[in-house]
Amino acid sequence: AVTDAALGPTRSRPLAEAAPGAPVLTVVIPCYNERANVAPMVARLGATLEGLEWEAVFVDDNSPDGTAAAVREIARADRRVRCIRRVGRRGLSSAVIEGALSSSADFVAVIDGDLQHDETRLPLMLAALREGYDLAVGSRHVPGGDSEGLSGAWRHRLSNTGIRAAQAILPVPLTDPMSGFFMLPRPLFEEIAPRLTSQGFKVLLDIVLSSPRPLRVKEVPMRFQPRVAGESKLDVLILLQFGALLLDKALHGLVPLRFISFGLVGLLGVGVHLAALAAAGAAGLTFEAAQVVATLVAMLANFGLNNSITYRQDRLRGARFWRGLGLFVLVCGLGAVANVGVANVIYTSGGGWTFPALLGAAIGMVWNYAISATLVWGR
Ligand code: GDD
Ligand code: MN
Repeated sequence: AVTDAALGPTRSRPLAEAAPGAPVLTVVIPCYNERANVAPMVARLGATLEGLEWEAVFVDDNSPDGTAAAVREIARADRRVRCIRRVGRRGLSSAVIEGALSSSADFVAVIDGDLQHDETRLPLMLAALREGYDLAVGSRHVPGGDSEGLSGAWRHRLSNTGIRAAQAILPVPLTDPMSGFFMLPRPLFEEIAPRLTSQGFKVLLDIVLSSPRPLRVKEVPMRFQPRVAGESKLDVLILLQFGALLLDKALHGLVPLRFISFGLVGLLGVGVHLAALAAAGAAGLTFEAAQVVATLVAMLANFGLNNSITYRQDRLRGARFWRGLGLFVLVCGLGAVANVGVANVIYTSGGGWTFPALLGAAIGMVWNYAISATLVWGR
C-alpha cells in the first residue's frame, strides 16, 4: 500500500453535511441471474454494517431468473435496498459504473452479488478511507487472503497471467488488480467516471488506470469464497475485452478501442479469406470465381465477429442483424473499391508495390470502420 502524503489531497471539496438517515455508504452489487443470492446478501450486509447508514443498489441486466423482482420484493420492505434494472444491455463494468453514479453517499463500495466476496471486510475498508486512503481493495494476494473459491487450476493460471499483464502498466502497486471488491469516496469516483473505458469485467483496473493521479491504495486481505448458487459469467469474449482494456489504457485512449478490435477482426478476416480461397480453388473454381467466394466468406466472418466482439454491447439481432449484414457488405464493397483505387493511383505514379498496397488497405479499413460504426451499428 502507498502512504505517500506527497501525492497531495484528493478530495477537492468537503462534502455537505448529510441529513440524519442519509446513506454514508452505498454498496453497489452487480448481478446477473443471482436471484437466490439476493436475500442472503442483504441479510449479511445488515449484520456487518450494523450501526452505519448504508444502502444497497443491485444493478441487474434484466436477468431471466427474475433477480430484479427478488430485489424489489425486499426493497418494498426495506428502504435501504434499491434495484436498477437495465434492459437490452449487458456488462459488468457498465453495471457497476451506473450503480455507483446513482449514489449520493460519502463512500461507494462494489461487491459481487454471488456471495463470493467477504462482506465482513467492508468496515475495515471504510476505516481505511476515513484514514485518508483513496481506495480500499479486497485482495486475495496479501497475507490473510486466498482464492480458494477459484475453481480449477486453469482459472488460477488465467488469473495470475492477467494480474501480471495488468501490473506491467499499473501506476500503483496492487497485488490483486483483478479484484471486483473495493471501496472509494464517491466524489473521487465521480471525478474518474467520465474517463472510464467501461467495457468488460475489470472495473477496478479501469478505475486505477483512468485516475488522473496515482491513488493511495489500502489492500485488505480477502478470502474468495466458492460460489454456492448460480454460475460464473466469465467467458472467452470477456478475456478478449480484458486485453483490449489494457491496450486502450497503454495507448492512453488515443485510438478508439473499437477501431483496434475492428482492425484485429480484419486481420483474422485475411486468414479466413486465404483459407476460403484455397478451399474454393480445391473445389475447381477459377481464380476470379474463388476470389469472389472468398471475399464474401471473409465479409460474413468479419460481420459476425464484429457484431459479437467489437459491438458486443450493441449487438444486432433478428431483422436488424440481416439488415446490418446487407449494409456491411455494401460498405466493405465500397471500401474495397477505395482500397484498390488509391493503391492504383499511387502505384502508377511510381510508388513500388508494397507502399501503395498498404496505404490502400489502411484507407479501406478506416473507411470500413468509420462508415460501419455509424451506418451499421450506429443508432
Ligand atoms: N449487471 C450485471 N451484468 N452483472 C453481471 C454481469 C453483467 O453482464 N456479468 C456478471 N455480473 C455479476 C455476477 O452476477 C456476479 O455478481 C458478479 O458480477 C461477478 O460475476 P461472476 O461471473 O461471478 O465473476 P467471477 O466469479 O468469475 O469473477 C470474480 O472474480 C474476479 C477475480 O478473479 C468476480 O469477483 C470479479 O469481480 C473478480 O474480478
Ligand atoms: Mn463469482
